[in-house]
Amino acid sequence: MSSAPPGSTTGTPRRPEAARSRPTDLATDGLPTLALRGVTKTYPNGKAALREVNLTVPEGDFVFLVGPSGAGKSTLIRLAIREELATKGKVILEGRDLARLKRREIPRIRRRIGIVFQDFKLLPNKSVRDNVAFALEVTGTPRSRIGPAVDRVLRVVGLSAQAGQRPGELSGGEQQRTAIARALVHDPRLFIADEPTGNLDPQISWEIIQLLLRINEMGVTVLMATHNAEVVTALRKRVIGLEDGRVVRDEIGAAYHRED
Ligand SMILES: Nc1ncnc2c1ncn2[C@@H]1O[C@H](COP(=O)(O)OP(=O)(O)O)[C@@H](O)[C@H]1O
Ligand SMILES: [Mg+2]
Repeated sequence: MSSAPPGSTTGTPRRPEAARSRPTDLATDGLPTLALRGVTKTYPNGKAALREVNLTVPEGDFVFLVGPSGAGKSTLIRLAIREELATKGKVILEGRDLARLKRREIPRIRRRIGIVFQDFKLLPNKSVRDNVAFALEVTGTPRSRIGPAVDRVLRVVGLSAQAGQRPGELSGGEQQRTAIARALVHDPRLFIADEPTGNLDPQISWEIIQLLLRINEMGVTVLMATHNAEVVTALRKRVIGLEDGRVVRDEIGAAYHRED
């Protein structure tokens, strides 16, 4: 099976020094893509969904955000895209404190992020191509640029042949790849996937993870939330574990990683 997890049991765990000197850290202009500093999020009903969370995601990183249902993964993502504001602490995206953004700056910074969810949120009456193109049309991209951009991302996700089909004529995996293409078409610097494989069977889930790894290799920082910690640990990527709103793990494979 060509798509089995690579290097799942071999190799030496990375030590923190090695992690800090990774090329991805050095290749940045010094700004992390995403940073949370002492972030607490308490919802209006009194529920503390995140408690004193500190983490830094450098440009080019691939991060799995794991934890059981209710741990706070989606809340962390809502803070990162400024759908919610932190109750306490700072959320910093590409050097900008999200709490200090002016309202009119929000759409532009959101376009720096591509996001997909467990439910694909596709427009049922539009073709794959039109679902992806629509994301550019709503931001006023010139028509001459839309066609080539859509073709390019459909190639990346492997859906060129299905471009004329509607979501109802696609498998679940193909629908998620359409959603990924739509999220990619703006050339985001940060790609966030909130349980993108939650509705997919294991083999298709694995293909989606491979696609996210490829997107990361193209230079995009990737943050993927999942409650399936076993699969992701095998990949030897950075894994941040949340439990009851706290970071309880931050490591590559089984090795301690960072954040003191
Ligand atoms: N809008 C909300 N209002 C009140 N409580 C919420 C809201 N959204 C999430 N929660 C609660 O916050 C906690 C974390 O939820 P969530 O971030 O969705 O976790 P996860 O994505 O890891 O399953 C849960 O206890 C959940 O019930
Ligand atoms: Mg969630």
